[in-house]
Amino acid sequence: MRAFSRLFTFLLLGVSFSLAAPPKEHAYKTKEQISGPRGWIKHIEAPADHRLSLRIGLPQENFDLLEKQLYEVSDPMHERYGQHLSKEQVEALVAPHPDSLAAVNEWLAGFDITEEDLVRSPAKDWIILNIPVSLAEKMLDTKYYVWKHAKSGDELVRTTSYSLPSNLHHHVEVVQPTTIFGRFKPSKATFSILEDLGSVLGLHKGAHISSGSSAVAVDASCNTTITVSCLHQLYNAVGYVPSDTAENGIGVTGYLEQFANNQDLQSFYADQVPTALNSSFKFESVAGGLDDQNISHAGAEANLDVQFAFGITHPIPATFYSTPGSPPFNPDVHTPTDTNEPYADWLEYILGQEHPPYTISTSYGDDEQTIPLDYAKRVCDGFAQLGARGVSVLFSSGDGGVGDGDSDPATHECITNDGKNATRFIPTFPASCPYVTSVGGTEHIPEVAVSRFFSGGGFSDYFKRPLYQEIAVSKYLSKLPKGTYKGLYNPQGRGIPDVSAQGDRYRIFYRGRAASIGGTSASAPAFAGFVALLNDARLKIKKGPLGFLNPLLYTVGVAGLNDVTSGHNAGCGTQGFNASTGWDPVTGLGTPNFGKLKQIVTSPFIL
Ligand SMILES: *[C@@H]1O[C@H](CO)[C@@H](O)[C@H](O)[C@H]1NC(C)=O
Ligand SMILES: *[C@@H]1O[C@H](CO)[C@@H](O)[C@H](O)[C@H]1NC(C)=O
Ligand SMILES: *[C@@H]1O[C@H](CO)[C@@H](O)[C@H](O)[C@H]1NC(C)=O
Ligand SMILES: *[C@@H]1O[C@H](CO)[C@@H](O)[C@H](O)[C@H]1NC(C)=O
Ligand SMILES: *[C@@H]1O[C@H](CO)[C@@H](O)[C@H](O)[C@H]1NC(C)=O
Repeated sequence: MRAFSRLFTFLLLGVSFSLAAPPKEHAYKTKEQISGPRGWIKHIEAPADHRLSLRIGLPQENFDLLEKQLYEVSDPMHERYGQHLSKEQVEALVAPHPDSLAAVNEWLAGFDITEEDLVRSPAKDWIILNIPVSLAEKMLDTKYYVWKHAKSGDELVRTTSYSLPSNLHHHVEVVQPTTIFGRFKPSKATFSILEDLGSVLGLHKGAHISSGSSAVAVDASCNTTITVSCLHQLYNAVGYVPSDTAENGIGVTGYLEQFANNQDLQSFYADQVPTALNSSFKFESVAGGLDDQNISHAGAEANLDVQFAFGITHPIPATFYSTPGSPPFNPDVHTPTDTNEPYADWLEYILGQEHPPYTISTSYGDDEQTIPLDYAKRVCDGFAQLGARGVSVLFSSGDGGVGDGDSDPATHECITNDGKNATRFIPTFPASCPYVTSVGGTEHIPEVAVSRFFSGGGFSDYFKRPLYQEIAVSKYLSKLPKGTYKGLYNPQGRGIPDVSAQGDRYRIFYRGRAASIGGTSASAPAFAGFVALLNDARLKIKKGPLGFLNPLLYTVGVAGLNDVTSGHNAGCGTQGFNASTGWDPVTGLGTPNFGKLKQIVTSPFIL
């Protein structure tokens, strides 16, 4: 609500803004300039009164110290393991230097912008202004245009370069939306309505098959239809009873007007988790995100995510976050404001909470190269803050294999947008952020890498390989025949994904009917569900939450994962990488064996 009242203030102030002259003290210098952007066509000048939600990122003075502490409290071999930081401790570490605050305030004052006209993040490392394009153009000495995406027709108001007074360059890290041309999308790859309900109800539960690596028996039907029960069986959690304790929690994020429908959730529970009937999730609106419960507006992605994440973990308290924003949009219409990087809004909201859920799953992402590096770094740093506070943050790794999701070799665009037009694999962000756990997809029993679409995987071009995966990833790379995909990927980059889970043929309820759906979109909430159960097991014996998972997963955790060793992840006109023994850039370290993981994380040797 506060944001809306601010917006109103700006509408009134708009006139005086357009009269204000830019401050003269310091000459403007280009802060960022991009070439391209590939796939987008410059359309028309942006309407002067189109409103932008401008985010200004101030340098986080002690981020290095935060990162160091994140790794210490997440490393099961470190004496500080589990000693997560408080909200206030994290905020102190990412707070900007007073000089940066002062310099930026002075600049804003030059445009008559006062404290009442802006919103600051809890740590004051972000300033958010809701302003017309005309004012942003003066402040950034730039010109905004409406850009049209050639293939989809999506439109964005962006620029390819912006400037700041020279004295501000080291007090402002990033200003967006300026050069960000992302196309945030759900990782939902396959979808079909099961027209004939009769044939899929009463799943064949009699026969059992062996799961292979984890050597547990699984209903034969699970080879073709994934239910909550299948996942409990396959991932060795049958009979585990989690508690309804207020301390624990699992959260699922929703974007792009994907609404999680409660009536569909009840149908799903009736079908698969009868003990959860009549229970629901807590809805939280982020920046005005809606909760549209009209069943004909239910979102397939949102329904999938909540049905499985909450179905696996019932009765652990569950939260669904709805963040607004829905490209394509029409920039000629003055509302709503387009941002197209809604995870920044969500991050700010969640970092402002005293007690975020201990496990949070997101099934959306962008091609990494479409997010400017400085902005991607800041968003990634936000996930580090959550990890340091004891939150496990999981992202789906994408459905395009090593590519951008376009499997047609004639049109796939595995081409760099840095102006060089080089052919290159396209990793997915935020899965490529080293402070999140990225989840790839498998199928069938025994499990293999998914093949109806391809598990997002590969190597980040932005983030260097973190220490926790150095051994696992270099082992994989050393086995690749010399010269494999030379120049197509960054062998020093953060390897993706970290882990995996079943990703296809999930049986959900959607708009009143049973449907079958797949994507690493399914894998992330599924894996997250088992993480929430692990936290439950730890809380029961008075241990703290797991927090950032990767340092544990790549060390003692490996013994609790089922290695997936066959399949590959085609993309960019190649066969992609192969799954193999140990970590691979298709299925990561493997899928969860809850029973074993529980033993590990509740052992007296893991604090
Ligand atoms: C599951 O289905 C796959 C693909 O059809 C098949 O290769 C595999 O043998 C099946 N598993 C079992 C245990 O029947
Ligand atoms: C759910 O609510 C219905 C109607 O109030 C009731 O008949 C049913 O027993 C409830 N089920 C559970 C599992 O609580
Ligand atoms: C639900 O949405 C549909 C399609 O948009 C609309 O026709 C219907 O009137 C809505 N129902 C209610 C109760 O608002
Ligand atoms: C890259 O591709 C774009 C769009 O196809 C084209 O306009 C541009 O000239 C190309 N640049 C180079 C260096 O080939
Ligand atoms: C994947 O395995 C196939 C079959 O063994 C092999 O031909 C191919 O070279 C492998 N690809 C990579 C990238 O390792």
